[in-house]
Amino acid sequence: MLGDSTINRRNVVKAGAGIAISTTISAVTRDAHAQAAGNARTLIIASHPYPDRSVVNKALWEVAREADDTLFRNLEAVYGDDMRGFDRAAERKLYEKMDRLVMMFPIHWFNLTPMLKAYMNEVWGVGAPPELRGKELLVVTTTAGDAKAYSGEGRLGFSIEEVLTPLRASARYTGMTFSKPLAFLGAAGAGPDALRGYQEALATRLREEPKKA
Ligand SMILES: Cc1cc2nc3c(=O)[nH]c(=O)nc-3n(C[C@H](O)[C@H](O)[C@H](O)COP(=O)(O)O)c2cc1C
Repeated sequence: MLGDSTINRRNVVKAGAGIAISTTISAVTRDAHAQAAGNARTLIIASHPYPDRSVVNKALWEVAREADDTLFRNLEAVYGDDMRGFDRAAERKLYEKMDRLVMMFPIHWFNLTPMLKAYMNEVWGVGAPPELRGKELLVVTTTAGDAKAYSGEGRLGFSIEEVLTPLRASARYTGMTFSKPLAFLGAAGAGPDALRGYQEALATRLREEPKKA
């Protein structure tokens, strides 16, 4: 479980020896060590309530884990379903060096996943964490509904940007730059070619410079 917390391997290698990882310390503390050593500029917070059933997000995680200058963390891998178990201080420490926060999740009932919402409640709290100010918020999300469904004339009548309004509002409230979401619409049941395309699109986006205010 903790092995998927997940530290970007290259950053750990780049950071060199000397990161003594005790199996007794929490995954978040271990990641904090990696962050301190690696100074990753992009922090990816991924969440999926049913990882055993995921196809698309799992494919995206492969890219996220390997991206340069990136720390990848999977909330359910670190905390399970414990919505009150977040290590607030350690999680917020990860924001210090970061320039871009990526939230990566499937749309379920036109919303965030429960653990990602709980993360915001518990880690961000009721105020606007000052560590987030001026940094980029990039949403990477996946849906079953296709582009037609997520259009004004489509079945839903809302674009994906509109569905993501709470996150845009949260970005504005916290002083973050809400960049254009990377939304893979109609992605459920994607085959190998489509998955490769999604992976390439994510890798390209992660190679872009963070959009700081
Ligand atoms: C409980 C549940 C609710 C869902 N709600 C939506 C939804 O509101 N809109 C939508 O487009 N897709 C919805 N989906 C489909 C998922 O978004 C889609 O299966 C997922 O993005 C594919 O990624 P995955 O393979 O990583 O799970 C839902 C799926 C589940 C299991």
